Amino acid sequence: MDIIEKIIEVLSQVKESKTGQSVTQLKMIRDLKVEADNLHLNIYLPSADYEFKSELYSDVHDVLLKAFPDKKIHAHFINKSAFADAPNLLLPQIKNFVAIASGKGGVGKSTVSVNLAIALKNLGFKVGLLDCDLYGPSVPTMLGIQNERPKVQTIQSQNKLIPIDVHGMPSLSLGNIIEPEQAVVLRGPRLAAIIKQFFQDAMWPELDYLIIDLPPGTGDVQLTLVQTIPLTGAVIVTTPQQVAVIDAIKASNMFLMEQIAVPILGVVENMSWFQPLDMPDKKYYIFGEGGGERLASLTNTTFFGQIPIVEKIRERADSGKVFEMQAGEFYAEIYKEIAQKIDKKVTLRNMVMAPTKKVEQA
Ligand SMILES: Nc1ncnc2c1ncn2[C@@H]1O[C@H](COP(=O)(O)OP(=O)(O)O)[C@@H](O)[C@H]1O
Ligand SMILES: [Mg+2]
Repeated sequence: MDIIEKIIEVLSQVKESKTGQSVTQLKMIRDLKVEADNLHLNIYLPSADYEFKSELYSDVHDVLLKAFPDKKIHAHFINKSAFADAPNLLLPQIKNFVAIASGKGGVGKSTVSVNLAIALKNLGFKVGLLDCDLYGPSVPTMLGIQNERPKVQTIQSQNKLIPIDVHGMPSLSLGNIIEPEQAVVLRGPRLAAIIKQFFQDAMWPELDYLIIDLPPGTGDVQLTLVQTIPLTGAVIVTTPQQVAVIDAIKASNMFLMEQIAVPILGVVENMSWFQPLDMPDKKYYIFGEGGGERLASLTNTTFFGQIPIVEKIRERADSGKVFEMQAGEFYAEIYKEIAQKIDKKVTLRNMVMAPTKKVEQA
């Protein structure tokens, strides 16, 4: 359990006097943040003249101090009238937008995006997959749909893209729209227009999660994305070695910039070790050790887990057979656990933080 989870558990004991419900259930605790010895939170009040204000303040303060005696508690009241929830007006049918990011290319971001989407789907969630890597869209190959084109439907005289349904998972990628070799010539405005089209001109169904595969690093795609939709959070993928971690920190910092403010949900370490099938007791740490955990601790986020190098993962990704991942298979169980942890983190995030605001264009 990370510290945020512990804090929420502790706070859920505090009851609001009018309703008798817990303050976490009522979503009154927001903007929860831990920085070194400081624990920050805002308490959203139902109205400016809320009568149990001081009582609530001391209750919150007391339980936190008791559970975390070494932390300084900074709790502030915010009147609900000032509640800055940014409604997701563009795509209200999508509950959570989760971006999969990395510092470097080749760390397995697309592979993680695809398998994570399938794992979440297997847990019973409605999941969509959007490939925003316009420079190297690899999702269609992994899903085995590289020759399919999304249908276009005219709705109220507007042309709308219908995401391609892959085993019940709607998916869109530039790779299904133009020939792959054309992708590299995309520049700023053209690129922004495509990203916006993926949201504004696409008919996404109701979804619990839209998983968004990003290009590596920080650039136009990432920027356009945060200006187009309110991202729920980002998952950072890294390999275990130090150089990958350094680049991943740069990518994380972009999301954390004050004017962007997309929460980092946590870290997935990919290619953690190689385990030969015929010698399952042997583990080779080809790319070093400990990078994912270090990155999670440096960014104060959750470490979701480690995915080893598995030949089947590569084979299925290359041949469009990712959906053949079977429950009970070694790596499927790892993905299942990671998916559960991410879902838990998103649920917690939504309890204690206002929805991310779309970044306004300068
Ligand atoms: N855990 C893994 N085990 C084996 N091969 C992997 C694993 N993760 C990724 N790969 C392979 O590594 C290559 C790069 O992965 P990819 O997802 O395309 O990286 P990125 O999107 O970060 O550039 C692909 O060929 C993929 O099949
Ligand atoms: Mg990729």
